Amino acid sequence: MCGIVGYVGAGAGMDVVLEGLRRLEYRGYDSAGVAVLSDDGVLQVERRAGKLANLEKVLGDRPLAGSLAIGHTRWATHGPPTDRNAHPQVDCGNRVAVVHNGTIENFEALVAGLEARGHERRSDTDTEVVAHLVEERYDGDLAAAVRGVCRDLEGSFVLVVAHADEPDLVIGARRNLPLVIGLGEGENFLGSDVTAFIGHTREARIVDQDQVVELRRGGVTVTDLDGTVVDGESFHVDWDTAAAEKGGYEFFMLKEIQEQPDAVRDTIGGRLTAEGLLHLDELAMSDEDIRGIEQVVIIACGSSYHSGLVGRYAIERWCRLPVHVEMASEFRYRDPVVGRNTLVVAISQSGETADTLEALRHARAQKAWVLAVTNTVGSTVSRESDAALYTRSGPEVAVASTKAVIAQLAAMYLVGLYLAQVRGTRDPDEVRAHLRDLQSIPDLVTEVLSRMEPVRALAGELADAPRVLFLGRHVGYPMALEGALKLKELAYISAEGFPAGEIKHGPIALIEEGTPVVVLAARHALSAKLVNNVQEVRARGARTIVIATDGDESVTPYADNIIRIPDTKSLLTPLLTIVPMQVLSAAVAMAKGLDVDQPRNLAKSVTVE
Ligand code: F6R
Repeated sequence: MCGIVGYVGAGAGMDVVLEGLRRLEYRGYDSAGVAVLSDDGVLQVERRAGKLANLEKVLGDRPLAGSLAIGHTRWATHGPPTDRNAHPQVDCGNRVAVVHNGTIENFEALVAGLEARGHERRSDTDTEVVAHLVEERYDGDLAAAVRGVCRDLEGSFVLVVAHADEPDLVIGARRNLPLVIGLGEGENFLGSDVTAFIGHTREARIVDQDQVVELRRGGVTVTDLDGTVVDGESFHVDWDTAAAEKGGYEFFMLKEIQEQPDAVRDTIGGRLTAEGLLHLDELAMSDEDIRGIEQVVIIACGSSYHSGLVGRYAIERWCRLPVHVEMASEFRYRDPVVGRNTLVVAISQSGETADTLEALRHARAQKAWVLAVTNTVGSTVSRESDAALYTRSGPEVAVASTKAVIAQLAAMYLVGLYLAQVRGTRDPDEVRAHLRDLQSIPDLVTEVLSRMEPVRALAGELADAPRVLFLGRHVGYPMALEGALKLKELAYISAEGFPAGEIKHGPIALIEEGTPVVVLAARHALSAKLVNNVQEVRARGARTIVIATDGDESVTPYADNIIRIPDTKSLLTPLLTIVPMQVLSAAVAMAKGLDVDQPRNLAKSVTVE
């Protein structure tokens, strides 16, 4: 949460930083701000509550000149989202500017000390504390001052600091949250992720735990908190600028929904052997270790959790292993039974979700083997796991996840098939056949996308619904949860997903005349029972919107609207049913005039517990 950019070079610092903030705005949009150091050593700070556009408007009229700049887009934790709590925060003399992502846990004690020493607080933020502490410690060596301050801080933070007396130096520091260096020619960058500087350089280096970066025009030095220089490897970012831009769509999400065939194709691609079987070297487990697994535990949050639920069906079916799927935020509190023979799969698009990270740390402490399924190379989740299986959906900018989720689903099928292949629970021919089915999915997703006009047409009718229910059985159930989550977060409609068989145990009481009920009735063995459930809700006045497989007429008499998807194996249907629900939610949000990419109160990359 919160997006951070730092720049020192020859270009217009304000423009570079604003461009980075535009790409990082998905991380939070409660307020935004920049500090630009002028050639005559004045730190000019501008910040505004609300979305980045508010700040851009002010800066459009009054641009700030200078080639060293830092910037921030905020998801509020300490203090409401007002101008005065926006970052950068400054010290008493306006000579130190700080942007911050994270939470400083001992900030009250630090505030008490600062106030006793005569500092005047001008915000409610924990961040301002850092500016005053740097002010106290600075004696001509900004890096040393920041290192000293970091030693005094408890909690998690990424800090980027500029000082009026340092025209060629931006300092970055991190603990528990991500910070990446962009390496340019005569200019260097800091960002919460690589999209912050992707328009300028694709050479990057990850900053590690408790490291401090000295960013100058001529180069970059990284030290630990004692000031000892540490080496690190740079890497090349495959994504190009186009991947992080809207490409003519009104919202990133609309583009990302269209990119889903590629997200699935790229996630499967390159992982098949010449014999049509799987190689997942990334798993980094010996075949003997894989055969020794006694249970699988999947930990994730939100939509990633729904991918995990689908993964359970696949792994249990193909591998005959017990699988537990846990919401990462609850995992630790149950004292879960995991050990050396447990494979823990941590699913996280961002790879930075605090709940997932804490859960995987807990699992590792119990000696479990942890596999990260993540979209973000070098993310904390991937680095703290034993192994990482990367989904390859490219950068996802819209806050609500679409293409990353479909890629997670594909990855979970791969995990299931690989375990089955190595453990011998499915013979190679069957594994090959499942892989062929999986390979046919990208074209089927393209087909589904081509049929979405009637789904968009439903949006106006659903826009005023006070509530919408989603029902599914088997793998349709996690997708019902996913459909409900998407509609909630995008269109602010109270939506709930239920196992279709469960509604008669209570939720059916919610149904009134006209209540929209979306039923995931894609082909599978339980569809006869689903037909009964559709009849039950319709008899009580529900308006039924049914997602059904081509040629399946069993549900037609009971459907007010039918959304057709092509046929595929029942276990793989989530890869197709997910698409109309995404399109529907985005369309309802648009019909209500809402911001599809940045729903209220949310942020991508949830780095607080
Ligand atoms: C919903 C959504 C969230 C995320 C959740 C986990 O559309 O995007 O529910 O799935 O916050 O995020 P990651 O996958 O980054 O750990």
